[in-house]
Amino acid sequence: MHFISKKLLSLFSITWVYVVESDYIIVTGGAGYIGSHTCKALHQSGYIPVVMDDLSSGSKEFVKWGPLEEGNILDKDWIFSVFDKYHPKAVMHFAAKISVDESINDPLSYYHVNFSGSLNLLDAIRHFKVKIFIFSSSCSVYGNPINIPVDETHPLNPLCPYARTKLFFEEALKDCSKAYGFNYGILRYFNAAGCDKDMESGFTKDNKSFISIATKASLERKPLNIFGNDYDTRDGTCIRDFIHVADLADAHVLTLNHIIKKNESLLLNLGSEKGYSIKEVVQELQKISENYLGVLYGPKRDGDIVTMIADSTKAKNTLNWTAQHNLEDILQTSYQWQKKITKD
Ligand SMILES: NC(=O)c1ccc[n+]([C@@H]2O[C@H](COP(=O)([O-])OP(=O)(O)OC[C@H]3O[C@@H](n4cnc5c(N)ncnc54)[C@H](O)[C@@H]3O)[C@@H](O)[C@H]2O)c1
Repeated sequence: MHFISKKLLSLFSITWVYVVESDYIIVTGGAGYIGSHTCKALHQSGYIPVVMDDLSSGSKEFVKWGPLEEGNILDKDWIFSVFDKYHPKAVMHFAAKISVDESINDPLSYYHVNFSGSLNLLDAIRHFKVKIFIFSSSCSVYGNPINIPVDETHPLNPLCPYARTKLFFEEALKDCSKAYGFNYGILRYFNAAGCDKDMESGFTKDNKSFISIATKASLERKPLNIFGNDYDTRDGTCIRDFIHVADLADAHVLTLNHIIKKNESLLLNLGSEKGYSIKEVVQELQKISENYLGVLYGPKRDGDIVTMIADSTKAKNTLNWTAQHNLEDILQTSYQWQKKITKD
């Protein structure tokens, strides 16, 4: 009797797995900057984001739109236990170490987390037959551009270990997708910036992105260090393509829906297609902030790319996606968020 009921039960559970479509989306690094904004967008689109994060640079306070599973992606048993619990429809993989400088001084830790940790996720994808894997890649895989704007066919020449971990994993992902029969979305972000307009999420207090540091300097009335003002650009400072984090979050949901609908893999640049020099960003910030922002020019840093601007035509054509937020939106939301976290 016991045997029969157990068998029946297991039959039921098998049926359940096949009948009920999972709305769970695993979001590794979902307690971090871009991951948390994407969790909000997923939630607004009816998905349930399950955050897998070790909170090394993310924060529990950013996990608001689904459960948090705390652990390290280097721990394969933990990954398998979380996949077994939720049987996700897709994986969005943001978790990574993200400092270029640190990756030069301690490359092994970058290859471990960003490459081996990511491979652990592919093991789980294969084992649990998850059909979609969306990966946070970076425009740093292109190195110093030969032509601008940079589209997805531009030669790849990563200049630091961080960028190489991104490129190597892209290649591993493509191989595994072909061999194990799942689709991927490789999304190469340009410079993520800005914060949630409702102030529900933003960058962490120790975020090292330029706009986060600039808004902090402005609020604390401290001078801002700028590295290099004799580059071959219109005003001597580097030029970057800043893309609002809410636009990146939307692109993830569109990529997910596209892959579900069309059953095809995608590799896309995500940028605003506009280049602003560091000096221009400071001038814009000056207009919206209450305090004067002093600037100190220091020497150039090794490995800094001079000009980086995206060609995102492919994302426009495949997803009907373009950046909806401009530099002013980015600076306004960043400044308001910085004010909020400085007060807390
Ligand atoms: N910020 C940018 O401009 C930018 C540009 C291109 C690509 N990216 C990529 O986007 C992704 C997200 O970046 P972000 O700016 O939100 O960074 P972030 O540091 O805010 O987020 C990373 C998250 O991953 C978690 N994490 C790190 N190591 C982990 C580990 N071993 N196990 C589990 N969780 C771990 C952190 O706690 C954090 O919550 C990264 O893969 C990054 O390389 C970012």
